[in-house]
Formats: sequence, structure tokens, C-alpha cells
Amino acid sequence: MTISYWNGRYLPLDEVHVSPLDRGFLFADGLYEVTAAYNGRLFEPEAHIARLQRGMAELRIDCALSAGDWMAIMERLAAESGIDGDLTVYLQVTRGAASSRGHAFPAGVTPSVFGMASPLKRPPASWRDQGVAAITIPDIRWGRCDLKTVALLGSVLAQQAATDAGVVDALQLRDGLVTEGAATNIFVVKNGVIATPLNDNRILEGITRTVILRLAAEAGLRLEERDIPAAELETADEIWIASTTKEITPVTSLNGKPVGTGAPGMVWRRMFALFAERLGR
Ligand SMILES: Cc1ncc(COP(=O)(O)O)c(C=O)c1O
Repeated sequence: MTISYWNGRYLPLDEVHVSPLDRGFLFADGLYEVTAAYNGRLFEPEAHIARLQRGMAELRIDCALSAGDWMAIMERLAAESGIDGDLTVYLQVTRGAASSRGHAFPAGVTPSVFGMASPLKRPPASWRDQGVAAITIPDIRWGRCDLKTVALLGSVLAQQAATDAGVVDALQLRDGLVTEGAATNIFVVKNGVIATPLNDNRILEGITRTVILRLAAEAGLRLEERDIPAAELETADEIWIASTTKEITPVTSLNGKPVGTGAPGMVWRRMFALFAERLGR
């Protein structure tokens, strides 16, 4: 049985018991992170910890763990997972379990912290060779998409819409603008210029997105953070989706129509090569 972390202890996953009064269970009052580890090395763990800590500060979840403590948990889960190969470490912190149910923050409650490692299913080679299909859907999520909360029903419904349509992702549109995929950031390329939605409350600041921004700057590629009208998806040369588990995946068919030439584009090829190098591949 996989080892997990639960409130200060390392124990088999099936020995973790969560109170029904935990606010994660009752209110989705919590945050999470998914960090990849390649060849036994965590990828950008400091950035994941910083995002978690920022989320806790925003939501006033007062957790005693330091950045070093979070790192130690991730490292131990990765090292003792027994998983042969690449993996992800999942971390979750909720506001904790109060003695009764009530919406406002309860006093004197200790946050619940959970972690586990799972095998990383890397994107199949066909996604890189041919790209993937996606659809567009309305973004029905709340106004704080910058927080990586466990309130994931919007993402669940978006991913299910994609699954029902037989495609890999659903690109969400809000007020005529592109926001995010079901659990990915979106990049659009036109005439060699990469664009991605602004980092504000409408999107999650993806760690993969941050890495792409850095790699583009280092390589001298033109990248703009700006509002992207939905119409630009129709005329794009390339569309990419990016996340920890989807890495950088080209979208070559949108709503049943080819994107650009209908094959992964040159700018994606360049970016993916830089990214693969960062992953140590
Ligand atoms: C809504 C949303 N946007 C973007 C991302 C990509 O974030 P990251 O690159 O940190 O995995 C995720 C990842 O789960 C997500 O849920």
C-alpha cells in the first residue's frame, strides 16, 4: 500500500481516516498542489510550495508548516513511494475539522494536511506527434480561479464535457475571452508570437506556464501576456495546453476544425524541446 502523509505522520494510504466534519469534505475549504518528479527529482518544488503558501495566506488557512517542512514531506513521499519511475506528489491542506458545521471560519481549528505519491502517466507520444483535439465551452467557474482550491467542480464538469465529446481538453471562454482548459493553461501562437491570458483572478498561475514564460524569455521568443479574444482561437497558427501532467501539448483540432496546418507547429516544437531539456530528457 502506498505511503501517505497525514497530519504529521507517514502511514499507508488506507490507514488515513478523515473526519466528516473536515471542512475540505463539507465546504471544499482547502488547497492542493500536484508536483511531478522525474528521475527521482521534484520539478519546480519551490514554486509549488510558494503557490500553496500564497493560497493559504489569501484564504487565511493558518498552517504551522514552513516551506522547508513542505519540501521535506514531498521529498519523503517521493523517496518512499515504492513507485518505479516518474511520479507526482499530491499535497492538500484544508482548514481542518471543527466540532460542528458552520460556514464562517471556526476558531482554534488545526488545518488538515494530506500528501501522497502516485505514478506519473506522461502524455502519450501520439499527443506530441499528432497533437490533440479540444472543444470550447463557457467558463462557469467562480471569480478566484487564481487559487488552487479543492473546489474543482468547474474543472470536473469541463473535463467531462471534453470526455463526452471524445477530446482531450475543453478550452473555457469567459466574456468572449479565452481563460483556461479544464486543468491547463492555454497558449496561442500567431505569426511566431506566443500569447497567453493575463495572470489575474481569471486563471491559475500554472507552474508549467511560468516555466514556459521563462524559457521563452531565455530563448528570445516573443511572448505576450494579454486578453485573448475567443475569435483568435479560430485564426491561430498553433494552440497549446500546458500543465504539470499534460506538459506542453499541441491542440491541432478545435471544435472539429484543424488548428493551423492541423499538425503540431514549429513554435511548439521549439518550446517543447526547451521544456524537455529542463525536464532532463
Ligand atoms: C485550472 C488550472 N489551470 C492551470 C493548471 C496548470 O497548472 P500547473 O502547470 O501548475 O500544473 C492547472 C493544474 O491543475 C489547473 O487546474
